[in-house]
Amino acid sequence: MDKLIIRAGQPLSGVVKVDGAKNSVLPIMAAALLTHEVCTIHDVPDLSDAAVMDEILCCLGASTAWNKSERTIEICARNANKTDAPYELVSRMRASFLITGPLLARRGYASIPLPGGCAIGARPIELHLKGFAAMGAQIVKEHGFVSLHAQQGLVGAKIYLDFPSVGATENIMMAATLAGGQTIIENCAVEPEIVDLSNFLNSIGADVRGAGTDTIRINGVRELHGAGHTIIPDRVEAGTFMVAAALTGGDITMENIVWDHLKPVTAKLIEAGAVVEQTEHGLRVRRNAGQPLRTVDIKTLPYPGFPTDMQAQFMTLLTIAEGTSIVTETVFENRFMHVGELKRMGADIKIEGRSAIIEGSPGLMGASIRASDLRAGAALVLAGLAAEGTSELSGFYHLERGYCDLVSKLRGLGADLELRP
Ligand code: EPZ
Repeated sequence: MDKLIIRAGQPLSGVVKVDGAKNSVLPIMAAALLTHEVCTIHDVPDLSDAAVMDEILCCLGASTAWNKSERTIEICARNANKTDAPYELVSRMRASFLITGPLLARRGYASIPLPGGCAIGARPIELHLKGFAAMGAQIVKEHGFVSLHAQQGLVGAKIYLDFPSVGATENIMMAATLAGGQTIIENCAVEPEIVDLSNFLNSIGADVRGAGTDTIRINGVRELHGAGHTIIPDRVEAGTFMVAAALTGGDITMENIVWDHLKPVTAKLIEAGAVVEQTEHGLRVRRNAGQPLRTVDIKTLPYPGFPTDMQAQFMTLLTIAEGTSIVTETVFENRFMHVGELKRMGADIKIEGRSAIIEGSPGLMGASIRASDLRAGAALVLAGLAAEGTSELSGFYHLERGYCDLVSKLRGLGADLELRP
């Protein structure tokens, strides 16, 4: 399996262009199933997760044309007549479950392998199913599959989400676009990716209002048409490079960002002692190496709180900030898989329930480390960049799920990296 060799180097500096958001392109690719006309999606990052979603759409009978150098994909679901997705594909990516809402809405039936848990938690889907059931779907779970029937079509309903689940909000929103009547989703997720999906759905003829607030209203329509759409920038990729600048005492400008989407990370980086400023084309983060980092407490929350997808990366930063920092993970129940590996690099971290207590001090040491999941992997790459000596990271494939051209982008900023297949 591939190994990434990370040699501690200079502070990272330069300009990097942020790609389209993984967590936006996946639901929007699934939403293309809602129409038989062509949808053209721009700023599609070349990620292994997007490749899995592409494979699933083709398995269902859709035709796709992905121009990776142009970062554009065309999807036509005219012939997407299949309504069951294969286990070996779905099990590779939990977000595959996002095809359920579109299939149910367009075909009146879906049979999807129950997504298992993953490294960061059980990842249940009962809120998705609660929404589909409220809209009139009959649901049967058997032999590891969930089958959903709505042969008479879905009917608009009022749905309250016990937790503002991103995926459940997206799945229900997509299903409701073709339902009879109005669907109201209360206590829904308000992430920027929800707004991006809503904008795409409205561009193909849906009637979705309120995305970005805690209540979304969808008035069902008879059918939807094709359109073009550009994916919003990836706020987690941008946040990862922001941390890299603060961590290495460097100076990085990120282009193609949305300032508002990065407010929680920006606020915490400034608290930690970095300088963050808006530029003409994006955002610049710097910290002069002589200026010590300050301790910071982090608590992950649904948007607009501090993003759980940035928790691991920020923890790496706090391992070298002199003093005690506390990181509390409230969104997922097992998202501290990076702690053990950071400790092997010399970090002083104790886990107490949902919190990690970090006694920060300079002096991470290079080591052989293993990525357990996407964001833990990103945290370990950052740690290798700040450590003394050389680190060997195995499991780099996890990072290719969510970071496009990460090695070349980091090399372009001065990192000394070697990817060994
Ligand atoms: C999305 O996952 C993102 N993935 C995740 O990004 C992100 O961490 C997460 O939202 C939170 O922001 C994609 O968009 C593809 P949730 P999702 O449903 O939709 C519980 C990354 O690293 N829950 O908001 O699965 C669940 O167990 C990935 O890019 C239920 O209890 O997240 C979790 O504790 C990781 N029942 C919490 O809600 C349900 O029916 C948040 O889950 C659904 C969710």
